[in-house]
Amino acid sequence: MKLIVGQHAGFCYGVRRAVERASECAAEKLPCATLGPIIHNPQEVERLAREGIRCITTPEEAYPGETVMIRSHGVSPTLIRRIEALGLPMIDLTCPHVAYIQQLVSKAEDGRSVVIIGEADHPEVQGIAGWASAPVVVLATSAEAASAALPARALVVAQTTLREETFESVLEVLRSRIPDLQVFRTICAATGQRQREAEQLSAKADVTVVVGGHNSSNTRKLYETCRQRCKRTYLIETPEHLTGGSIGKDDVVAVTAGASTPQWLLERVCRRIREISGC
Ligand code: F3S
Repeated sequence: MKLIVGQHAGFCYGVRRAVERASECAAEKLPCATLGPIIHNPQEVERLAREGIRCITTPEEAYPGETVMIRSHGVSPTLIRRIEALGLPMIDLTCPHVAYIQQLVSKAEDGRSVVIIGEADHPEVQGIAGWASAPVVVLATSAEAASAALPARALVVAQTTLREETFESVLEVLRSRIPDLQVFRTICAATGQRQREAEQLSAKADVTVVVGGHNSSNTRKLYETCRQRCKRTYLIETPEHLTGGSIGKDDVVAVTAGASTPQWLLERVCRRIREISGC
């Protein structure tokens, strides 16, 4: 069995920064809670919970004096004001790349609407929409772009983890329907690198293992990319999800992981692959 692990697999810069800061707070015994899971990886969220970093869903759930952490997805200014109004200390771990998009949409010139290409129910998209100074339209697909009511002037940004093909296909429709477009290609470079690497690795592998949380948008997109090129693609959250017999001793196995998969989990998955292939 030949095992190839993607060089761009696992934590991206923004997630690593957030998780490391949360771990530092735990080490300092600072009472802290993250607003939503700090990353889309239940195993890492559990590990942090054991270290004392709990997860809350609204600012009102925080204990008096507890520090509220904003995760890398960022939040709307309305939510920030709610935290401030409660008098709670705050650590803002919004990824700088997401913060840049928030600033872009907050400065859309007068009369220019904002179009976000991405998933309307994703927290990053909801946060970005909250920063917009103009009306916002969120479009996930080219079909939605073809049927939505659109403005005559728009500033366009993308969810950071969007697939490049999706962005291009939606943009093509927007170009035919919106006369005045200002386009910012805000897909994160880390996402593009991981996607391209996964495409190359899965195309030459017999088996591809994608490691990541089922609720992680970039992990699901990674899985779809690999599945198109490699029929035996498995999406797993933990090593135990790989069953005996799924990998043979002559297989070439590619491993990739979403941006919220920690290194320790990736290493356990590689050990499991060696075990079940008998190599
Ligand atoms: Fe930031 Fe890009 Fe990661 S936007 S959170 S570095 S995927």
